[in-house]
Amino acid sequence: MGSRIVATGRATPRTVITNHELERRMDTSDEWIRTRTGISQRYTLCTGESLVEVAERASREALARAGMKPEDLEAIIVGTVSSDFGFPSFACQLQHRLGLTSIPAFDVAAACSGFIYALSVADATMRAGEWSRVLLIGADALSTMVDWNDRSTAVLFGDGAGAAVMVSEPGQRGVLGSILRSAGQHWDLLSVRNRGIQSPIDAEARTNQNDAIKMKGPELFKIAVKSLEDITRRVIERAGVTLDDISLIIPHQANLRIINAVGERLGIKPEKVFTNVDRYGNTSAASVPIALDEAIESGRIHDNDLVLLNACGGGLTWGANLIRW
Ligand code: UT7
Repeated sequence: MGSRIVATGRATPRTVITNHELERRMDTSDEWIRTRTGISQRYTLCTGESLVEVAERASREALARAGMKPEDLEAIIVGTVSSDFGFPSFACQLQHRLGLTSIPAFDVAAACSGFIYALSVADATMRAGEWSRVLLIGADALSTMVDWNDRSTAVLFGDGAGAAVMVSEPGQRGVLGSILRSAGQHWDLLSVRNRGIQSPIDAEARTNQNDAIKMKGPELFKIAVKSLEDITRRVIERAGVTLDDISLIIPHQANLRIINAVGERLGIKPEKVFTNVDRYGNTSAASVPIALDEAIESGRIHDNDLVLLNACGGGLTWGANLIRW
């Protein structure tokens, strides 16, 4: 028995912030942001909005497309580092909003790799026969964690949620394998040291800059490129297929230059790599499921295609999932 994604959904906050708006707020330029990152705009959560509500919209869309009701679910797993509370978890808050009362619901905290990790956990547990219908979410709001005076991080992040409904199923289709990696010794390349102290774009400036996201961008860039190349080759090799067999790679959307560098090292044609970082920025754990949902919607994925998901982020964490669609 394996596991298969049968439907996806996505949702974002209402507010779009373009590079030109950021030009008016800080010493940056549309040109710098586009050429160094590929980003043109991002969605940001504003004061009074809830990321759990955004995740609920993505979840209900995925469930409707799967022809299911929330009551059909047997577990909820959320890849996130953006819960409103220290606890209860984001997943328990989402469970409550979906009107569910007793199924297991929990978060997986792996920063930008959160969805990749959550998918691997769901697949393993479903293979063990524990659950047969699981709601998987990637949701983050890192724009609320930046210092809006720090141009080196403020321009990068956007917010949103992506959802996938997984069912257990016999046969050749579904998740073929996942590989996960972490390197805690590099924790300080990307971190938020004071959890939960939010500062949305429309709020007062942070009083303590130490609460904000800290990133050593150029160092992280180099490790991300090497790690993503390595994990992609490993998951493909373990499944006994080749890079030529891959129909589409859906990478974490952190930076177009990272995506292109990994593609070049793998020798993959650009048309086999899905990107939407221009419209969303880096949405952390939400980026892969949002991109997956857009790839399906735009007809880029067909039955029996081999689809590869990968991500690298704070922790450091990285990983990949290989799926026969
Ligand atoms: O999601 C988790 C994974 N995330 C990543 O892997 C992110 C990895 N890192 C990156 O994507 C890139 O390192 C960044 C986009 C963060 C930065 O790009 P970079 O090409 O590595 O730039 P840099 O940090 O080396 O900065 C180059 C210059 C500096 O000026 P000087 O010192 O050369 O005069 C910065 O001060 O660009 C300047 N700069 C900016 N200029 C205009 C930095 N941010 C900005 C900005 N606007 N927003």
